Amino acid sequence: MKVAADADKLRREGLDVVDFGAGEPDFPTPDNIKKAAIAAIDGNFTKYTNTAGTPELKQAICDRHSSDFGTKYAPNECMVNVGGKHAIFNLMQVLVDPGDDVIVPVPFWVTYKDVVNFAGARCVFVETDEQGGFQLTAAMIEQAITPKTKMVIINSPSNPSGAVLSRDEFERIYRITSRRGIWLLTDECYCKFLYASDPFSIASMPGAKESVLVAGSLSKTYAMTGWRIGFTLAPTAVIGAATKLQSHCTSNPTSIAQKAGVEALRGPQDSVGVMLAEYRNRRDYVVNRLRGITGVTLAEPQGAFYAYPNVSVAYRNGIGSSLQFAEKLLAEQYVAVVPGEAFGTNDHVRISYATSMHELQRGLDRLETFIKQRS
Ligand SMILES: Cc1ncc(COP(=O)(O)O)c(C=O)c1O
Repeated sequence: MKVAADADKLRREGLDVVDFGAGEPDFPTPDNIKKAAIAAIDGNFTKYTNTAGTPELKQAICDRHSSDFGTKYAPNECMVNVGGKHAIFNLMQVLVDPGDDVIVPVPFWVTYKDVVNFAGARCVFVETDEQGGFQLTAAMIEQAITPKTKMVIINSPSNPSGAVLSRDEFERIYRITSRRGIWLLTDECYCKFLYASDPFSIASMPGAKESVLVAGSLSKTYAMTGWRIGFTLAPTAVIGAATKLQSHCTSNPTSIAQKAGVEALRGPQDSVGVMLAEYRNRRDYVVNRLRGITGVTLAEPQGAFYAYPNVSVAYRNGIGSSLQFAEKLLAEQYVAVVPGEAFGTNDHVRISYATSMHELQRGLDRLETFIKQRS
């Protein structure tokens, strides 16, 4: 947040900032989705809906999840939230209590730590490393389990590392958690953006519906970050509790955005493939450029749209942390990146390649100059 605020300040001063910070697609929302929202307004679909979302959207979510992944959820096992973040927040509030442990693999999406702590619980961090491609294993999870473990959070593809958990390993983790009555929360925010494997949901395992919680989002898949539509797939009792909570804080997600969500899920899906192809080109370019900088190392991202290079080679002369690296890079070269310490590692920075090739080229030129000056 600090780097984003500093970048914004420089931009307002008229400086030419290259922004690698944004965690959202640079593509516009597809036209058919926008048109559905306009039709919703014109048709006066502008009133409260059911707290947990319209039956139409819940059915569309269940149907899409079923056709994409082979799951069999019914609308009473589904609710619509104000973004995937809200889905995760609700789940943590209704399932996790003070004194509980929640297992969070490192590097992690920043929000997990805060929502776990806000529920009064403790994060048990499981370290993965760059040499191993930030790959998580079932053995790592098993070792971290305590008698207080209530939940394990898995985010594949990962923000920030782009690591993708193999189906086999994910299944092994599921077997460990289900056997012990531990909730397995799968954050499927980037599930459609995979470069080397096919989309898969752990919720498709036989019996998984009992202990797996799916947090889904339309934000990245359909370039709809501002619309705020996410969803939860979970046992009916959990949906009931989360609905009760939601009814007293946000009520329903915006009615108009829900109509747009139905079109996103039921309409043509080609825009997803178009974005993925573009992200792949950019990923290849970013990987080559970063690996071409002496001293910089990088685990190749297998999904999402982030690269997570190790830039510690430049930690000298006033730079001792990823935050200082990000601050100096912004101050001297006007390039905004997110410091790794926000995600639990200090040697890395996150570069979002959800931006144009032109911006990537300009920003990476500057990053290269910055690192060369220091190494
Ligand atoms: C890993 C991960 N999960 C969930 C979300 C939530 O996205 P939204 O609330 O926009 O659906 C994000 C957004 O950046 C994310 O990176």
